[in-house]
Amino acid sequence: MSKLEILTYPNNFLSNPTKPLKNIDGKVQEMINKMATTMYEAPGVGLAAIQVGWGKSLLIYDIAPRDEKRELNVIINPKIITSEGEIISEDEGCLSVPEFRSDVKRAARILVEGIDREGDPLRIDAEGLLAIVLQHEIDHLNGTLFIDHISALKRQMYKRRMKKKLRVK
Ligand code: NI
Repeated sequence: MSKLEILTYPNNFLSNPTKPLKNIDGKVQEMINKMATTMYEAPGVGLAAIQVGWGKSLLIYDIAPRDEKRELNVIINPKIITSEGEIISEDEGCLSVPEFRSDVKRAARILVEGIDREGDPLRIDAEGLLAIVLQHEIDHLNGTLFIDHISALKRQMYKRRMKKKLRVK
C-alpha cells in the first residue's frame, strides 16, 4: 500500500475548511487505507484528509499503545456536539507542523457525532488523550492547526524557522 505525501505548514491548503463527504465509495475506502499506511509509517496517532491534500471531512486515528494491536478508527463528517472542562494537552505535535511541540489548552471532555466508514452513525464520548486527538483532527477539518491556538509570537518564530529551512534546501 502506497504512502501519501503529508502537507506541512505554511502550506495554504491546510487552512481551508473541508467539505462534507457524501458518497462513501470504493475510492474513499482506498484513500482511508492509504491514509492509515501514511499515519502508521509517520508515525502518528491521527491524520485528517486535508493533511494529504484531500479537502473532505474525514479523519482517522489510532491511540492504542504502540506495543498493542493496531485499532484503526475512521470518522466521517465529525461534529463536536458538546464540550466541557479544560485540560492542558502537554507537548502536542502534528505531522503537518514538523519540529515543533507546544502545550495547548483543550476541552477536557467532548461528545462527537459523525459516521463510520460503513456509513453508520457514530457517537463518541471522549476524554483524556482521545478528546485531545479528536479536537486536534477536527480542528484540521476546519482549517485550524494546533499552532493557531498558541501565541502569535511563538507562531511567527516557528514560521521564520521553517522558511529559512526551505531556502537552505
Ligand atoms: Ni495535526
